[in-house]
Amino acid sequence: MSFWKRTVSCGALRPEHAGQTVTLNGWVARVRDLGGLIFCDVRDRYGLTQVVVVPETDERVTATARELGAEFVIAIQGTVRLRESPNPNMPTGLIEILASDIQIINRAELPPFEIVEGSQAGEDLRLSYRYLDLRRADLQRNFIIRNKLYKVTHEYFAEQDFLEVETPILTKSTPEGARDFLVPSRLHKGKFYALPQSPQLFKQLLMVSGFDRYMQIVKCFRDEDLRADRQPEFTQIDVEMSFIQQEDVLNLIEGYIARLWKEVINVEVPLPFKRMSFHDAMTRYGSDKPDLRFGMELSTITDIVKDSGFGVFADAAKAGGVVAVLNAEGCGEYSRKTLDELTEFAKKYGAKGLAWMKFTAEGVNSPIAKFLDEASIEAIKQATGAKVGDLLLFGAGQGGSAEIERTYTILGALRNEIARREGLYEKAAANGVYSFHWVLDFPLLEYSDEDKRYIARHHPFTSPMHEDIPLLDTAPEKARAVAHDLVINGYEAGGGSIRIHQNPVQQRMFELLGIHKEEAEAKFGFLLDALKYGAPPHGGIALGVDRLAMLLAGTTNIRDVIAFPKTASGLSLMDNCPSEVAEKQLQDVGVAVAVKK
Ligand code: AMO
Ligand code: AMP
Repeated sequence: MSFWKRTVSCGALRPEHAGQTVTLNGWVARVRDLGGLIFCDVRDRYGLTQVVVVPETDERVTATARELGAEFVIAIQGTVRLRESPNPNMPTGLIEILASDIQIINRAELPPFEIVEGSQAGEDLRLSYRYLDLRRADLQRNFIIRNKLYKVTHEYFAEQDFLEVETPILTKSTPEGARDFLVPSRLHKGKFYALPQSPQLFKQLLMVSGFDRYMQIVKCFRDEDLRADRQPEFTQIDVEMSFIQQEDVLNLIEGYIARLWKEVINVEVPLPFKRMSFHDAMTRYGSDKPDLRFGMELSTITDIVKDSGFGVFADAAKAGGVVAVLNAEGCGEYSRKTLDELTEFAKKYGAKGLAWMKFTAEGVNSPIAKFLDEASIEAIKQATGAKVGDLLLFGAGQGGSAEIERTYTILGALRNEIARREGLYEKAAANGVYSFHWVLDFPLLEYSDEDKRYIARHHPFTSPMHEDIPLLDTAPEKARAVAHDLVINGYEAGGGSIRIHQNPVQQRMFELLGIHKEEAEAKFGFLLDALKYGAPPHGGIALGVDRLAMLLAGTTNIRDVIAFPKTASGLSLMDNCPSEVAEKQLQDVGVAVAVKK
């Protein structure tokens, strides 16, 4: 069937086009039949245009207009004219098309949900018909933003002499951190490729090859538990440079982010970004990715309460632990019920309890006040800066660096939860406030109780600080890494480090991680070899494209910026994957399924 090809898009016409004869192609967004007049909104990627059929219009055309249903694909021929009742809220709101003819190009069944901006239809339903959901203007806007991001990214890095190099998607399984997605090999039965969790080793090898400045917009795959800002496949802007120091990476990325915010959403980003040590981030905000758009800081009061009559606090202090407190500013009115909810919330993060203290006009109100003398309460007030109307929430944790970190993390989670309850996120978003900062000086290692060994906090290729290298032999848990995380509005938008470029240091690192010589050789032999053949000092970072797109688009749901995302349980509801495969396919790749649900 031949169709009438459009002469303009549905977003293009303005009052100055009045009198022109045009053809539009698009989808029927809405039809209103007012008897004499029939209005039809036609939609495409560029906008929405109102079409009107009047009593004087040809009988045949009126009949076709009456047939139109939502989401029919149509062609409209007509004349542009000024509207009698203009709608200044839409770009084409001052004009309409007086239809002279209408062609139904393709009919549509009634869609399972109405395709409108801000659709309230359930997300699962929308994901099952993602191609319809993607017709919505608000989602399309997100992809326009994402596209601008690609463009600015390529321009910025190309201007600075970066080369984009593609790295393999079928790679060797070297799990560190998340689980790998495995791909069985047909030609080498019993052997597997893994999808890359990131191109980390390849980009380091490109530095050994002398590429000097590499970047790639690249898909990465991690089989891990999903959250609102996490998908099993996601996109990174992966960057690596040679003969540089950490400062160079930070400057490069600050320039990039400022350019991105300016060009995509016209926001000026003040440079340089704030810098914060991991220690400060944890002890002041209880998070390695604190949101600095609101206050409510933490204080450490171990010394104030170590001799108090409150056993929980005194015991924590004696055990070498910590007592910390969150000042929930202005939350002194919280009811018992709310405090109980917060206690339950804290318990989910591993808290044993949640002591609290309210400062009211009448004085201090707290179940633990009776255990504390006046001087201690005054000292707590001083330390936290608490005023009348504030609520303090306490966390006490026994010794051991993991336990201490958990204590701060619980208070950090409470800080975010209270910000959520108080509407501080919406408020910051409504005011167009962004917070950009670096977290630096991460510990190199952390002890995994589960694995009974140290694991790398960033990854095993991250360089220890030069002055901390001796600590690897004496107190490895104290060694700091030359690592950097970029935090935007409480999201980890990027992470990277300066890498180990010397073979013996890398070997030592593997030893510390409990990866013995043979295992290191089997898994990472190619890297260890490469480091023997003239590896330059190098380092870099990877930024999360999906997270940057979320921030630019102003959404908190990563699925809003991914065309065909997975659900929180890793399903694609549209094509129903993962799915079973034919027995023959399994045989071809030498795989037998042992566990069936
Ligand atoms: P890292 O693991 O910190 O570093 O990842 C870099 C950035 O990628 C984003 N990201 C994700 N986004 C969505 N869903 C996920 N599941 C997900 N996982 C990570 C985050 C994160 O900051 N090779 C190193 C980088 C380096 O050292 O240069 C790496 O992958 O925004
Ligand atoms: P208890 O003496 O166990 O009844 O606890 C008294 C108060 O201290 C209650 O409000 C508990 O929720 C709180 N609490 C108990 N353990 C901790 C802890 N580890 N950190 C902070 N508060 C706690």
